Amino acid sequence: MRLESKVGIITGSASGIGRGIALAMAKEGAHIAIVDINEEKGQETLKEINHYTEGTLFIKDISYEENIKAVVEAVTDKFGRLDILVNNAHASKQALFTETTLEMFDLSFGTGFYPTFNFMKAAYPELKKTQGKVINFASGAGINGQPTQASYAAAKEAIRGITRVAANEWGPDDINVNIISPIASTEGVETWSKHSPELYEQMINSIPLRRLGDTESDIGRTAVFLASEDSDYITGQTFMVDGGTTKIY
Ligand SMILES: NC(=O)c1ccc[n+]([C@@H]2O[C@H](COP(=O)([O-])OP(=O)(O)OC[C@H]3O[C@@H](n4cnc5c(N)ncnc54)[C@H](O)[C@@H]3O)[C@@H](O)[C@H]2O)c1
Repeated sequence: MRLESKVGIITGSASGIGRGIALAMAKEGAHIAIVDINEEKGQETLKEINHYTEGTLFIKDISYEENIKAVVEAVTDKFGRLDILVNNAHASKQALFTETTLEMFDLSFGTGFYPTFNFMKAAYPELKKTQGKVINFASGAGINGQPTQASYAAAKEAIRGITRVAANEWGPDDINVNIISPIASTEGVETWSKHSPELYEQMINSIPLRRLGDTESDIGRTAVFLASEDSDYITGQTFMVDGGTTKIY
């Protein structure tokens, strides 16, 4: 029970990687606040979490700052503390650079960058009390500059930028702020693999460990490490949990 009695907010945890992290943390004893726009999946994940610990569900669009403040307030009212903040949710659209529009930037920054920034700001006073942990999300698409990902890459690298700033500013408060850059099998990836099996095989062959990560046992367990006292001396870092695909030196 490495996270016994800890309380965590995980955005986008109704499904995908966020769900895997929520389950991995709940199995280590953490109470989890799911924040998502998908009510059906949110209820399913809540049920699973409640099997191990106490969860709570917020059906909220995190593009709105007032929703973020309301979630942080409600979680601290309910559980009396906040130890872990995982900024996982992010929506974006792909397009060639010259076809990328400002609306695409608005979507990517509106669901990924600004919510990460706003949640960090809103959660800071509580995280200071608990010497808390922040886990943000980046992508190899941003780090490597993947074609068709201008709006997504920009928001992801902006998240890495503010993570390093917060790590430096909040180090004296004993708050750790780190980043996971994952590759994992989600429902979206599974659907895509069925429609484009050749591209899927190409992708698998480009991963040194020759498989996609598991949302819970690979990404979730890394998040447990970053949320636990085992990572107390690590901050401002990007963890590539991607089967060895991208090496940062
Ligand atoms: N899956 C991968 O291989 C991969 C690779 C690189 C980076 N990432 C990053 O990892 C994180 C999780 O990725 P994923 O593949 O699980 O994503 P996903 O699209 O499968 O799940 C995202 C979740 O966020 C929720 N969400 C979307 N917009 C929201 C909003 N405005 N308010 C509240 N909730 C919202 C969705 O309902 C969904 O439950 C993201 O930051 C993504 O960019 C994933």
